[in-house]
Amino acid sequence: MIPEFLELVRRCNGNIVALTGAGISADSGIPTFRGKDGLWNKYRPEELATPQAFAKNPRLVWEWYAWRMEKVFSARPNPAHLALAIMERRGLLKAVITQNVDNLHERAGSRNVIHLHGRIDEMRCLGCGRIVKVAEPPKVVPPVCECGEMMRPNVVWFGEALPERELELAMSLCEENSVLVIGTSAVVYPAAYLPHHAKRNGNMVIEINPDVTPVTDIADLSVRERAGKFFEPLLPILEEEGFP
Ligand code: APR
Repeated sequence: MIPEFLELVRRCNGNIVALTGAGISADSGIPTFRGKDGLWNKYRPEELATPQAFAKNPRLVWEWYAWRMEKVFSARPNPAHLALAIMERRGLLKAVITQNVDNLHERAGSRNVIHLHGRIDEMRCLGCGRIVKVAEPPKVVPPVCECGEMMRPNVVWFGEALPERELELAMSLCEENSVLVIGTSAVVYPAAYLPHHAKRNGNMVIEINPDVTPVTDIADLSVRERAGKFFEPLLPILEEEGFP
């Protein structure tokens, strides 16, 4: 599948963006949501990832996010993250649109990263709205802002709207570019609509996922592989001056 993949990337001539989901970080040791060992098989999203759950028990929600922060901050980018950063640096990829709240794309060197579902390395004050960057889980939960109000993880919970600017940017990028879809079950909207939007605008769709998803049918190429394993041998090729 590597020659086919490289041929499509070559044909995109830099007019391609990536759309990533939890699967791209699975090979970095961060659990997915819906896979066999997915978080939602062990935990109830309505108790941990909704504004109602937070209002009812902020300590429980924060303990869970502190656990997830620990995993994210101790994880390392894998070859899939690194490949996207190389492609961006070499002008082969315009941006990374991610559903992930982890910061592995940025730590791999990607610059143009659009977080549709927020970031776990940020907290937001419920009172004054201030956003604070964090590099470790808060020692005391729930953390309190200087203004005295409680802080919440700066992520998008079920039932909440996505950040407008990021969503608009993602929609227009997928209108004008092909999409490399990596590690998403493509069942959570509006993010899951993006590959279809790209296809409807005459662009190509490339998918990397060990499982079949609703994107597989519209994909010009769909690779049944773990992203870390698929991109590892590609790193030296993508770096090569001679490519594309
Ligand atoms: N490489 C590539 N893909 C993988 C890998 C891997 N190593 N391991 C698993 N996958 C695939 C799975 O087959 C599945 O299709 O990644 C996908 C993960 O799907 P989900 O767990 O549903 O994650 P995602 O699509 O990102 O979820 C969307 O739902 O829970 C909310 O807000 C949360 O952003 C999240 C959104």
